[in-house]
Amino acid sequence: MKGWDRLIFAQRREKEIITGLDRLAGPLRAVEELLAEAVVSPVEKVTEMARHLLSAGGKRLRPALTLLSALMAGSLTKKAILYAAVAELMHTATLIHDDVIDKAMIRRGRPTVHALWGNESAVMCGDHLYATAFSKLAQDGDIRVIRIMAEASRRVCEGEILELEHAYRMDVTENDCIQIARLKTGELMGAACQVGAIAGCSDGDDPSELATALRQYGCSLGIAFQLIDDVLDMEGSEEDLGKPVGSDLLEGKITLPVVLSFPLLEEGDRQRWRTLLEERRVTEEDARWLAQFAQATGQLARARSYAWHYAQQAVSFLRAWDGKGEETSWSRRGLEEIAWFVVERKA
Ligand code: IPE
Ligand code: IPE
Ligand code: MG
Ligand code: MG
Repeated sequence: MKGWDRLIFAQRREKEIITGLDRLAGPLRAVEELLAEAVVSPVEKVTEMARHLLSAGGKRLRPALTLLSALMAGSLTKKAILYAAVAELMHTATLIHDDVIDKAMIRRGRPTVHALWGNESAVMCGDHLYATAFSKLAQDGDIRVIRIMAEASRRVCEGEILELEHAYRMDVTENDCIQIARLKTGELMGAACQVGAIAGCSDGDDPSELATALRQYGCSLGIAFQLIDDVLDMEGSEEDLGKPVGSDLLEGKITLPVVLSFPLLEEGDRQRWRTLLEERRVTEEDARWLAQFAQATGQLARARSYAWHYAQQAVSFLRAWDGKGEETSWSRRGLEEIAWFVVERKA
């Protein structure tokens, strides 16, 4: 199962689901058309690189958040479709840059952009996508949205840099992990929701209260999402994820399950890990050993419970909008389903 289907499947998994995220299928097709058109450049290689990743699928989670947020605020407008596409363009840019940083060779089941075209072109392709996203927003002209998206881009960069700063260190804390997850993943999801709420509001209505709640929802959702991503890196499968597993530790990324596991190591093992990290020579076998240790000592489950906490926190921000009309309650339920999907997902 690929891309968007995974979300629809998640929505149907309990059978009692009446709402069905597939109501978003039409607007999401419009987002896809916008994406395919937005990345066209007179320099064909630019188009080819961007489409290589875009056409590989992906869950389109951020566009879904924007569209549902717009619906919750009133209606699924053309602006909402534009902002949904912009959120995905920005996400695509971060993935291309992230794969350069992580030296990752597979993404969405395909060779990464830098693996095919080299780091130099991949970095430029990511920049081009960011610029394309902001050019689209400039044409639209809503300064509030430009500001929110620019701020989200800054936060993603800060998160990636903070993560690099904490790499290969044994003194990373639980709070560091949450802060990194918030910055590199939560902020963009929060922004995708917030601009959706702005787009869905009719002229004259003040979207601020709902937009703030949705932003908080998205931010907490993103933390949960990233914590699960880190768990899946230690116990998931490449087939499900479309990207290699076990690679975080190889790159010195100290994620939450690892932070929770370190204090439980026996002295000899702790010393061994200190040396492995200091000398930057963690092997695949070492990474598998620690994943096994985290599994056996219940630290993967504990990291999952942190993710559940943030998913529940996300949903709690939606409560104030219970029982406010059919569209609102349908979209609110959709967002709630996404929060549960995020923590139960295998892909
Ligand atoms: C991957 O995001 C990057 C992280 C934030 C962990 P997604 O898992 O949403 O990637 P796609 O878009 O579905 O490929
Ligand atoms: C997420 O970080 C990337 C960004 C949000 C920029 P990861 O490095 O954990 O994501 P994957 O595992 O490569 O998808
Ligand atoms: Mg990565
Ligand atoms: Mg990861």
